[in-house]
Amino acid sequence: MKYYIQTLGCAMNYSDTERVSSMLEKLGYEKTETPEDADIYIFNTCSIRQKGEDRVYGQYQNVAGWKKSNPRLLIGITGCMVRNTSTKNTERENQDHLLKLLDQLDFVFRINDTHKLGEVLSEAEPRLEIPELEEGGLNDYLRVKPKYQVAHQAFVPIQIGCDKYCTYCIVPYARGREKSRPMQDIIAECTDLVEKGCKEITLVGQTVNSYGKSVLDEQDGQFAHLKDPFVSLLEELDKLTEKGLNRLRFTSPHPRDYNENLIEAHARLQCLTPHFHLPIQAGDDQMLQKMNRQYTFEKYKKLIDKIREILPEASVTTDIIVGFCGETDEQFENTVKAYNNVRWDMAYLARYSPRKGTVSWKAFKDDVSREKKAERWHKLNKLLEACSREYNESMTGKTLEVLVEKFDNETGLAEGKSRENKIVQFPGAPDLIGHVVNVKITNALTWTLKGEKIS
Ligand code: SAH
Ligand code: SF4
Ligand code: F3S
Repeated sequence: MKYYIQTLGCAMNYSDTERVSSMLEKLGYEKTETPEDADIYIFNTCSIRQKGEDRVYGQYQNVAGWKKSNPRLLIGITGCMVRNTSTKNTERENQDHLLKLLDQLDFVFRINDTHKLGEVLSEAEPRLEIPELEEGGLNDYLRVKPKYQVAHQAFVPIQIGCDKYCTYCIVPYARGREKSRPMQDIIAECTDLVEKGCKEITLVGQTVNSYGKSVLDEQDGQFAHLKDPFVSLLEELDKLTEKGLNRLRFTSPHPRDYNENLIEAHARLQCLTPHFHLPIQAGDDQMLQKMNRQYTFEKYKKLIDKIREILPEASVTTDIIVGFCGETDEQFENTVKAYNNVRWDMAYLARYSPRKGTVSWKAFKDDVSREKKAERWHKLNKLLEACSREYNESMTGKTLEVLVEKFDNETGLAEGKSRENKIVQFPGAPDLIGHVVNVKITNALTWTLKGEKIS
């Protein structure tokens, strides 16, 4: 019996897929690279924008068609589109909206229910012989041991959910209440990874730097003795440099929870990388307030100034939404001004997409036209290209440490990322994959650095 998982969305979903895979393997399934051969096809979905959901609906139509030639195929959905773990055999009133919408769909499960996948499959298809798994430790989905997709790099989740309720965002509804994973579990997972040769760990969560500080964390009290639990966690993990950990990253932090202590940790800790991803979303204070971001541009800029004071060459990147409800030309221009002011060297630009159930969907009008959103997006994208190139050019002549991720046989080029998270290509060999090498940068393109390996 074979399974195939299609993953969309962020690093969190990529990491979750590794846990769903290992659960399926415990249940006796084997991974296939050929989707058409699968007996179970699972979509791990993203809801952040309508486009992501539409991709799932489109591909679902294809997969549903395969049931004609393979009647035992089971189709499932997990990830952020799911609200309610249920199957085609659950009573109709308790079924998730997706089961009511897609008639060939067999089961859906909330990602937090991954450890109950065996029960879900048995309900969806009682004829399957699903082994009973021992209970030990599986009461929490993050305790499922993942099947990592590569050896030298890994994502490690440190919290679930989000309590911030930015008005445009579906995540708190999709992922539920914010709760941090016990520090000893994270340290154990990371130690095991590093002992097996992992060189780069990225800690993932929706607002990683509020680790240990959510309402549920305060209620359970396990972080009560720590002043700054996130920095304490980073300090603990930094000790893994002795065992071979080369870099520690995290994504995404929230500007509201960023403090000097954390910025200083970047300079102090050996394996924390000089890359700061700080999503701003908008450069206009009224828009920021309407988004419920709880900071002003001025406050955000102070963080950037501090970062650049301590680590002048660090990469500073962001996320921006254009065309949020009621955004005027003048308010958008404030975002342009902010861009010119901060000059982020990379940014993920999104056009506002209303999400059902969020505050902005209920209370505000999506009144910026599609054309205006496109125009604003393109204007910012031009700036982004210029700033990315400007940063890359500042890297020429320098020697950067690159963790090699791939090799292209046709061009003979190896490719990896620098500590600043920039793509670097250089003439190399396939056996460099997974190794850290020094590369002298000779040429800067908009999104890529080119160079030569030095010994
Ligand atoms: N937790 C992170 C963001 C996670 S979502 C933070 O708070 O910064 C990733 C990005 O998707 C967001 O930063 C935002 O830019 C974008 N996004 C979220 N909801 C959106 C929506 N409704 N429309 C368009 N972009 C959205
Ligand atoms: Fe969404 Fe805001 Fe939470 Fe980020 S902090 S996941 S944007 S609600
Ligand atoms: Fe998408 Fe969910 Fe991540 S909505 S961005 S997959 S947390």
